[in-house]
Amino acid sequence: MNSRPAPLLQVNDLKMHFAGPRPRPLQPRLPVRSVDGVSFQIKHGETLGLVGESGCGKTTTARAIMRLLEPTDGSIIFNGTDITHMGQRQLRPLRHDFQMIAQDPFSSLNPRMRVGRLLREPMQIANIPRAEQLERLQHSLRRVGLNESHITRFPHEFSGGQRQRLAIARALMLNPKLVICDEPVSALDVSVQAQIVNLLQDLQHEFGLTYLFVSHDLSIVRHISTNVAVMYLGKIMEYGTRHDVFSRPRHPYTSALISAVPKVGGKRGQRVVLHGELPSPINPPSGCRFHTRCPYAQPICRTDEPALSPKEAGQQLVACHFPLD
Ligand SMILES: Nc1ncnc2c1ncn2[C@@H]1O[C@H](COP(=O)(O)OP(=O)(O)O)[C@@H](O)[C@H]1O
Ligand code: SF4
Ligand SMILES: [Mg+2]
Repeated sequence: MNSRPAPLLQVNDLKMHFAGPRPRPLQPRLPVRSVDGVSFQIKHGETLGLVGESGCGKTTTARAIMRLLEPTDGSIIFNGTDITHMGQRQLRPLRHDFQMIAQDPFSSLNPRMRVGRLLREPMQIANIPRAEQLERLQHSLRRVGLNESHITRFPHEFSGGQRQRLAIARALMLNPKLVICDEPVSALDVSVQAQIVNLLQDLQHEFGLTYLFVSHDLSIVRHISTNVAVMYLGKIMEYGTRHDVFSRPRHPYTSALISAVPKVGGKRGQRVVLHGELPSPINPPSGCRFHTRCPYAQPICRTDEPALSPKEAGQQLVACHFPLD
């Protein structure tokens, strides 16, 4: 019989709404529905690629899972524990197990701290003995391709790629289980991107890491992911294995994204060209959120929201009334 271990991360119908602008003075604020009912799971050692245009809610999803935000609705189960509304004090011991690497390491690396202190800080908070701190620090610097001579330097003395190596070293200092990578290479030169992606893959194999890999770049998501979730305006439109989603996209939005990348994409059956801008999450379109840009939209698409289906585990899921063949 197939034993099915529980996923490391289970996200159920997650919603993250912010207080938006007031339509008129004194009127209540409109909600910004940045994440509006997102569900997925990631098994131990796997990578889920979360892909979609800028502004679709990827970072907000990542920050809600990291519990840097208080979710509006839904649940986040990490390693069997419901962390959705856990207080920061309760979260503290669990935080060793889930870490985030941001797009811009300047935002996560204090510019006034030297590398030694930056990397030691998480270990000090975790009460790791001083002698062990130094040993771990040296080892992790070497592991990410830096060395001991860097310990006394400040973040601004490094190149973009080296800074991201530092951010990776810091995120891995406490041996996390889950690492959320939010566009970790988007700010880097293409030649450096590949080195950092390869480093992340090597570290994943070495330490059995599980990744949520957030990116707007389909070629990188295709390279690194086990499964892929395609997000549009706060919702998941398609979800499946990397192979299924890239070689047989069933949602017109996925197909449009793939069509836009010359190198990616297997079969070129139905090519969908994406026009217009992402609508505002303050007032998302009725029915299928993609209907204002979808070349296949029918009247039902404007009124009825398609569910992500089928519900059977292991299937390619698509939220569309007329999925592509
Ligand atoms: N704190 C906030 N208050 C209001 N709106 C926000 C806030 N954070 C993000 N948003 C909005 O939520 C949407 C999704 O943002 P984000 O998650 O950063 O998208 P992505 O990472 O996919 O580019 C955007 O329209 C953004 O303007
Ligand atoms: S439900 Fe309709 S509008 Fe939405 S993606 Fe499918 S065909 Fe297009
Ligand atoms: Mg983002």
